[in-house]
Amino acid sequence: MVSPTIFCLSAFLVLLVLATSASSSKALSPYYYNRVCPKALPTIKRVVEAAVYKERRMGASLLRLHFHDCFVNGCDASILLDSTSTIDSEKNALPNINSLKGFEVIDQVKLEVDKICGRPVVSCADIVAVAARDSVVALGGPTWAVQLGRKDSTTASRDKANNDLPSPFMDLPALINNFKRQGLNERDLVALSGGHTLGSAQCFTFRNRIHNETNIDPKFVKQRKSTCPRIGGDSNLAPLDPTPARFDVAYFNSLVKKRGLLRSDQALFNGGSTDGLVKAYSSNPKAFWADFAKSMVKMGNINILTGKQGQVRLNCRKVN
Ligand code: HEM
Repeated sequence: MVSPTIFCLSAFLVLLVLATSASSSKALSPYYYNRVCPKALPTIKRVVEAAVYKERRMGASLLRLHFHDCFVNGCDASILLDSTSTIDSEKNALPNINSLKGFEVIDQVKLEVDKICGRPVVSCADIVAVAARDSVVALGGPTWAVQLGRKDSTTASRDKANNDLPSPFMDLPALINNFKRQGLNERDLVALSGGHTLGSAQCFTFRNRIHNETNIDPKFVKQRKSTCPRIGGDSNLAPLDPTPARFDVAYFNSLVKKRGLLRSDQALFNGGSTDGLVKAYSSNPKAFWADFAKSMVKMGNINILTGKQGQVRLNCRKVN
């Protein structure tokens, strides 16, 4: 007869083992490639730096690529899959088509990483996550330890990309709700929107804001209207903040001055619950950096595939 104490103790141990094995199969680690391919991360950094120095905007594009990957079925490189008879590519979804860029840089990284590692051990999802971090660093922003060990998906969903990515026409409650569905809170929303310290947007994404909205600085309206008329010029570009190739707090300063380019940008400073945080970041780069890094790690953990789930693609654009 087993004594109740021993029974309880062994039941507890079984539960503990189950709990840790379940969590470890899900857990990522910054050291994932240290043993199998110690040169992987320096190689990604080298290729990304070269691409960003050639064209500074590429850093913005690579950051956005990671965001658009993570918000659609998790950070699983589904965004990289081209259309086939069975794949309805996310590249053709409205927020991505004629807009999302950086795919060739990811191809180049994959080629060089697989070569240096001697075999395809680094997943495309991890490459995208590291490329986003290295881009931010190359443009003067904070660094963080990227959690690694994601696997790549075998599917993609254009419909999900259309439904789950936030739109630039959203107001604050819609943005908060959109991020909440990804497990991200208001602080993550504000910090991650700070990604708009980099890069540019096309006229059709901010036309209504500059021509019809009133919570906007008139001088700024005049500047923007010069390249984004009421009709035509849909793809003309304007910077998302005054210093689009520098990772700074100019984005938040612009919001405080009612110079947010997108409706969804200005929504973060429009008399609502996030005003305080925007104001705080606008004068405290260290706080923005720390929170941005923290939220990037959190975003990078959305719905990841690990262990035996998914695969490590040989070509980031195709399922093996
Ligand atoms: C909060 C909701 C968000 C909305 C509604 C939104 C929307 C947009 C839109 C409409 C553009 C311009 C696309 C074009 O005109 O082709 C853009 C660009 C960009 N977004 Fe966002 N975005 C959001 C959040 C984020 C987040 C979380 C990040 C990264 C952490 C990010 C990073 C970027 C970057 C870097 C660009 C510039 C890309 C380039 O110049 O190639 N965005 N975003």
